[in-house]
Amino acid sequence: MKLIDGKLISEQIKKEIATEVAQLIDNAPRGPHLAAIIVGSDPASMTYVAAKERACKSVGITSSVYNLAEQTTEKELMQLIDFLNEDSEVDGFIVQLPLPTHLDEQKVINAIKPEKDVDGFHPINLGKMVLGIDTMVSATPNGILELLSRYKIETAGKHCVVIGRSNIVGTPVSILLSRKGYPGNATVTLCHSQTPKLADYTLAADILIVAIGKPEFVDESMVKPGAVIIDVGIHRIDDSAKSSGYRLVGDVDFNSVSKKASYISPVPGGVGPMTIAALLMNTLKAYKKTQIN
Ligand code: GUN
Repeated sequence: MKLIDGKLISEQIKKEIATEVAQLIDNAPRGPHLAAIIVGSDPASMTYVAAKERACKSVGITSSVYNLAEQTTEKELMQLIDFLNEDSEVDGFIVQLPLPTHLDEQKVINAIKPEKDVDGFHPINLGKMVLGIDTMVSATPNGILELLSRYKIETAGKHCVVIGRSNIVGTPVSILLSRKGYPGNATVTLCHSQTPKLADYTLAADILIVAIGKPEFVDESMVKPGAVIIDVGIHRIDDSAKSSGYRLVGDVDFNSVSKKASYISPVPGGVGPMTIAALLMNTLKAYKKTQIN
């Protein structure tokens, strides 16, 4: 079994980005800038946004964070989005999800200028991705593809089974792996909460991508020997043996499944760090477009 080390690969990508940013800003009036909007104080969202800020800093991308109160109205949020859409010094921005329930996430995403949608969530960017037109692909699917390609894992002709059909992970990754090219040319099955006899599908998978959101859901009885396992989940579970009182686990039972897999991404240190690297890649891409026009 080989470990798919997302922490290591994300560090390599960040080094590559830092080198490119340093070269680009030598001849440019300004460097790339990423903004983030966070509404309320959801602890996980605060942690993610802080990690994104740190990552920007480490590669020479400047960043700004707009912390809005939990009770922010749709109108106020839309005003800030319009402001960032028009700010020529902001190359891209994200609205951290989830939003408080009184705000309509899709409506908010639709308001972001597609050229600045570094999350790749806007319908125009998702549509381009489906059509195979170069665009900003969302961070988690992009991070997964980057892991497969940097580990030179064959995808052509393989049966790839994805569990979970979210707009952010399952649906886009299933489309990306079935398109022409590399990583792609796979035969993809998209499984979800209404799939009966799930193990019948997972046992047939050469590549199994698990984004179901249930701790340690996939065990060794569901995995074909030699399969490649990509675990997208992240959960805190109580563990009195740890000084913190908890440990992080994914959607896959790592201890049993790693004995059967040819490659497996761990949690933490697998897909997670790659999502931030992918966001930086999109920010750089958005910045380079502004420098051409
Ligand atoms: N919440 C969880 N993941 C993400 C992400 O990739 N982007 C945004 N904006 N919010 C998230």
